[in-house]
Amino acid sequence: MHTLNLHPVLLLLLLFSHLSCFHIVVPVSAKVLMSIDCGSSSLKPYTDKDSLVWVGDNQYVQTGETRNVITKDLPPGWDPHVMSTIREFRTRKKNCYSLDVDNKAKDSTSAEWVLVRASFYYGNYDNKSTPPTFHLQFNGNNWTQVVTSMERVVYREVLYPLNGKNTIIICLGQTKVDHLPFISALEVRSWDSYIYSNYTDPNYPLIFGARVAFGISAAIRFPEDSYGRIWNPRNPRAPMVSVGSNSTSLKANIDGNLPEIVTRTAAVNLNSSANITIWADRDPKFPVHVNLYFSEVMILNSTQKRSFNIIVNGFVFYSGELLQKFGPVSPPHGRALEVHFENVYVDPLFGYKIEIVRANGSTLPPLVNAFEDFYIGDKLVQGTNSSDVISLGLLQKSFPQLQDWSGDPCLPSPFTWDWVACDTDTDSPRVIALYLNDLGLTGSLPDFSAMDALETIDLSNNSLTNEIPEFLGKFSKLDTLYLEGNSFSGEVPCSLLKNSNLRLNVTGNPNLSLSNKNTPICRNNTESRIPSASNSENYIMSALQIIILGSIITQMRVM
Ligand SMILES: *[C@@H]1O[C@H](CO)[C@@H](O)[C@H](O)[C@H]1NC(C)=O
Ligand SMILES: *[C@@H]1O[C@H](CO)[C@@H](O)[C@H](O)[C@H]1NC(C)=O
Ligand SMILES: *[C@@H]1O[C@H](CO)[C@@H](O)[C@H](O)[C@H]1NC(C)=O
Ligand SMILES: *[C@@H]1O[C@H](CO)[C@@H](O)[C@H](O)[C@H]1NC(C)=O
Ligand SMILES: *[C@@H]1O[C@H](CO)[C@@H](O)[C@H](O)[C@H]1NC(C)=O
Ligand SMILES: *[C@@H]1O[C@H](CO)[C@@H](O)[C@H](O)[C@H]1NC(C)=O
Ligand SMILES: *[C@@H]1O[C@H](CO)[C@@H](O)[C@H](O)[C@H]1NC(C)=O
Ligand SMILES: *[C@@H]1O[C@H](CO)[C@@H](O)[C@H](O)[C@H]1NC(C)=O
Ligand SMILES: *[C@@H]1O[C@H](CO)[C@@H](O)[C@H](O)[C@H]1NC(C)=O
Ligand SMILES: *[C@@H]1O[C@H](CO)[C@@H](O)[C@H](O)[C@H]1NC(C)=O
Ligand SMILES: *[C@@H]1O[C@H](CO)[C@@H](O)[C@H](O)[C@H]1NC(C)=O
Ligand SMILES: *[C@@H]1O[C@H](CO)[C@@H](O)[C@H](O)[C@H]1NC(C)=O
Repeated sequence: MHTLNLHPVLLLLLLFSHLSCFHIVVPVSAKVLMSIDCGSSSLKPYTDKDSLVWVGDNQYVQTGETRNVITKDLPPGWDPHVMSTIREFRTRKKNCYSLDVDNKAKDSTSAEWVLVRASFYYGNYDNKSTPPTFHLQFNGNNWTQVVTSMERVVYREVLYPLNGKNTIIICLGQTKVDHLPFISALEVRSWDSYIYSNYTDPNYPLIFGARVAFGISAAIRFPEDSYGRIWNPRNPRAPMVSVGSNSTSLKANIDGNLPEIVTRTAAVNLNSSANITIWADRDPKFPVHVNLYFSEVMILNSTQKRSFNIIVNGFVFYSGELLQKFGPVSPPHGRALEVHFENVYVDPLFGYKIEIVRANGSTLPPLVNAFEDFYIGDKLVQGTNSSDVISLGLLQKSFPQLQDWSGDPCLPSPFTWDWVACDTDTDSPRVIALYLNDLGLTGSLPDFSAMDALETIDLSNNSLTNEIPEFLGKFSKLDTLYLEGNSFSGEVPCSLLKNSNLRLNVTGNPNLSLSNKNTPICRNNTESRIPSASNSENYIMSALQIIILGSIITQMRVM
């Protein structure tokens, strides 16, 4: 059976203020962190009409190609300059942007939230008239599927706490043959932790569904909404009408939450015996978080009363027990009331339904100003074990063939890097296999012994040289080691040859020392030997690796 778990919370937003107070308070922490014009290689930042400064994306992404888009049919509200270039990804199952943000909240207890918005304007840039579908990910987490459109700008938002991390990784995953992922714009805004998140578990992201304001004529965005949210206009269907507020005391962003204009109009049902119904078709896999906003549009006299109950999926919230606590909702004039519902159950057939029903004794029909909903996504992941990530970085540093892979190596499943396999059953996945065969790798192997969960290493059919390193014998779980078809020289570490549980193949390495019987000769730990000429070369190598390690740690902060 489906369980219903709703926690209604009433929140009075203190938009009310003295009439004499005219200054607009813009919340200090509603910061524009980054506005990236994807596909633009221009080195000169572009400033749009709202004074937002956009930069090109070259420094944030290693892969993909830039393309131009004709914007003559671009819908209003979107900047033609920003939408006129995209980055298209033709290869690899995932390609990632890596954005470093200055995170004030370094300790993970005070979670600073960010809003990330990715926008996609297809504009038939490839003349194929087939807007692609692909997958979007953030910091190793599934974000959402993107279904692009011939006409519209499609955008997706996610709100999540940084929890002490300061890199935002956004990846596009290819899910269909011939559907090439692309992106037009990427925006990051910091978020006051008390908005939405006061009543939200910091272990879960909020994945944007809809944000609608009734009766406004055009979408509201920055700077009217200091957080850069987009409020879309919605004209209520008859017999609903939109009604403007008579309040003169509304103040924009007094508490930083609701743009003033959203409180200026509401949808009212002219048929005073009818309900207002908000019905949303949503993916039943995830619970939904809903915010409703109410503000009285009239100055009521002593005989007028507007009050209503809110019913979610047939359950009355503002009556009965809760009625004694809060009473039915009576929206305030000149202020906004926010009512939110967490964990709203979504029916696979019907989605969810909210009814706003006139209460007993109300002389006026119900109204509603605005509503938003979010999916509550899966629990945020920790990311792949950092020792594994650092070791993979060493391999990438040594072998240019591997450098195009970015983002979390294991997550989200199944978007792992092509040349690794992972155990994703744990909170922090481990890399259990390296498939580095047939890649044209040359030179010697860096020390990746920190990846101690490895079970399979396939390095066959490359041009690797020097001795087979000692550390390969230290992996306690290793059962398969394919080294055939390389140019390894010298002897094979005894720890490998003597390990009867190991499937080892070293054939086709003509420079390996063989015994009379044509079997490899083994060598004991060479680390204790007096350095020879070739070993001093190894010493230089390991010194180099330490320097490399230092730079990799900063580059590879993927979690
Ligand atoms: C698409 O068609 C237009 C007009 O025919 C042409 O200018 C443009 O180069 C074409 N673009 C691609 C990617 O084929
Ligand atoms: C992430 O999304 C992909 C593609 O929709 C899906 O195959 C995969 O199971 C999801 N992973 C998780 C952990 O939900
Ligand atoms: C959120 O929580 C903080 C700290 O507990 C509190 O000061 C603030 O008033 C709360 N905000 C809202 C909108 O409830
Ligand atoms: C008002 O709504 C009620 C209930 O839906 C309906 O029975 C009635 O016909 C409506 N009246 C008008 C004038 O539309
Ligand atoms: C309004 O909603 C309530 C609660 O779901 C329902 O009982 C009632 O019949 C609805 N009224 C109309 C006119 O649809
Ligand atoms: C607002 O005031 C005007 C004039 O005072 C009046 O005509 C109008 O009906 C009022 N609107 C509402 C929603 O009360
Ligand atoms: C209150 O307003 C209504 C609607 O304008 C009007 O019919 C009624 O007479 C008013 N009552 C008082 C006491 O002013
Ligand atoms: C509404 O008011 C009427 C008359 O006062 C009363 O009989 C009825 O029980 C009330 N309904 C509810 C749901 O409180
Ligand atoms: C990574 O794995 C190693 C070995 O199991 C473990 O000691 C270490 O704590 C792990 N690191 C993280 C960040 O989980
Ligand atoms: C190595 O390459 C050869 C030919 O290029 C191929 O036949 C063989 O299957 C490869 N071996 C492995 C283990 O990939
Ligand atoms: C080792 O690899 C070579 C080349 O792929 C293959 O012919 C041979 O059978 C393998 N030997 C073992 C013991 O697996
Ligand atoms: C390696 O060390 C083992 C144990 O110390 C010893 O038995 C063996 O003979 C040594 N092998 C070689 C090739 O030195």
